[in-house]
Amino acid sequence: MPSIGKTMLWTTFLCLLMASSSGGAPLNGATGARSKVLLISFDGFRWDYDRDVDTPNLDAMAMDGVKAAYVTPPFITITSPTHFTLLTGKYVENHGVIHNMWFNTTTQERKPYYMTQFVNEWWDNGSLPIWITAQRQGRKAGSLHFPGTASSYQGERAMVSEVEPRFYNYSNETAWRESVDKVMGQWFGAQDLDFVSMYFGEPDATGHRHGPDSPERRAMVRQVDRTVGYIRDSARRHDLADRLDIIITADHGMRTVLRNGLVNEIILSQIPGFTFKDLSFHLVDFGPVGMLLPKEGRLEKVYNALKGAHPNLHVYKREEMPERLHYANNPRILPLLLISDPGYVINGYVPLQFNKGEHGFDNEDMDMKPFFRAVGPSFRQNLEVGPFETVNVYPLMCHLLGIKPEPNDGHLDATRHMLVSSDDRGTTVSESAVSHVFIGLAAVSGFLVVVFVLATSRAAYRKRKAIKR
Ligand SMILES: *[C@@H]1O[C@H](CO)[C@@H](O)[C@H](O)[C@H]1NC(C)=O
Ligand SMILES: *[C@@H]1O[C@H](CO)[C@@H](O)[C@H](O)[C@H]1NC(C)=O
Ligand SMILES: *[C@@H]1O[C@H](CO)[C@@H](O)[C@H](O)[C@H]1NC(C)=O
Ligand SMILES: *[C@@H]1O[C@H](CO)[C@@H](O)[C@H](O)[C@H]1NC(C)=O
Ligand SMILES: [Zn+2]
Repeated sequence: MPSIGKTMLWTTFLCLLMASSSGGAPLNGATGARSKVLLISFDGFRWDYDRDVDTPNLDAMAMDGVKAAYVTPPFITITSPTHFTLLTGKYVENHGVIHNMWFNTTTQERKPYYMTQFVNEWWDNGSLPIWITAQRQGRKAGSLHFPGTASSYQGERAMVSEVEPRFYNYSNETAWRESVDKVMGQWFGAQDLDFVSMYFGEPDATGHRHGPDSPERRAMVRQVDRTVGYIRDSARRHDLADRLDIIITADHGMRTVLRNGLVNEIILSQIPGFTFKDLSFHLVDFGPVGMLLPKEGRLEKVYNALKGAHPNLHVYKREEMPERLHYANNPRILPLLLISDPGYVINGYVPLQFNKGEHGFDNEDMDMKPFFRAVGPSFRQNLEVGPFETVNVYPLMCHLLGIKPEPNDGHLDATRHMLVSSDDRGTTVSESAVSHVFIGLAAVSGFLVVVFVLATSRAAYRKRKAIKR
């Protein structure tokens, strides 16, 4: 039976080919597991803030999930740049949100943090935050008070969003709970969103005002801890706990400022040979980093005057910036950068900064490191992991959502060990791959049965014919 034999072999071969290729292909173009994801930032929550305060809810979360020793934010360690790194997975020089403040070096205009939220071109500078990428791939995204929420990106914005009013009180625990219930009940619940980013302005405000070692900061950490308990209760009440992965982190840490005669303060106007008249624009008096635009032809003069003028002030031309800071390769970064040592701030004419706590320092300073916690169906339990950079949070979230990330500076390999292996989960690609292979094999065996029946009946027919003959 040469003809049937050949057909059978070919068909079997084709079936196996189809089965293996459909089994290996990602589900709906997805790249990973799929769950709902809530990203929460508690502004300025330093990695070690749970060490001198009782934090029963954060401790319970660590038992049920993953706790990192600390995470490393990108430089410059201030709110808008570091939050945009969480949303894009890019270092600051690569996403373009290089400061909390928008500025124009020609007109001398400067806009503070809140007003900069509404400068669309500042945020929409070529990088897509995860909301847009998720929505383009069929997921639904929302954002509450998270830096960058007010802006649109290539004409698109998060489909559900809430931007806080001007002069908002970022510390009100009752308002925090109302926001949590809205996100759980309405956004994840009724509106079935897949991703939400949520922002709380504490313990940053209290850390600035009273310093990171103050009883006020410890009280605020207790408020954050109560809120973490409230968030997880709310997820359970709305029947989300087994579908929702919760990541809680922060944008930067906080450090006690040294002043009041304790140290030799950095005051630029007192440095011999330096004058503001040589500058056409400057951004100083905003903590430990300053940026200067010298007038035409005066860069070397300004640089030489400042370089080495104060033992705790580091002066760089943009192109000399240490590469590890990833804060040079962007036209918005001005040609001269001033960075003070941890604890020092940079003053222009006279000291104008009276915060007891500050951030913005080198991201290698341990006081600049935020905390990181995660809990939910995708995460292992009771696992403490080592530190990693916050550029890696974005590819992790894309993996959890099952979406393909935009090009970024992070990698899933930095966090993969936190995840339960895909066999332990309900709906994962590898399980669906197994089922594809199974369906393929079933089809092949079915076909083989048919061929076998045909072949044996034909053989029997021939046999009968032969007997007749
Ligand atoms: C700054 O202002 C000048 C003058 O109005 C304008 O030409 C320029 O485009 C502005 N630059 C930015 C970055 O907004
Ligand atoms: C980013 O902003 C700079 C000006 O600040 C502008 O020159 C550049 O074209 C912008 N890039 C994109 C992709 O929007
Ligand atoms: C913000 O609200 C809290 C009450 O939750 C209050 O204690 C605090 O004084 C308010 N802060 C400001 C700056 O109004
Ligand atoms: C705190 O928020 C609640 C709920 O939004 C509001 O009723 C209350 O007036 C706020 N308290 C303060 C001090 O702002
Ligand atoms: Zn911040």
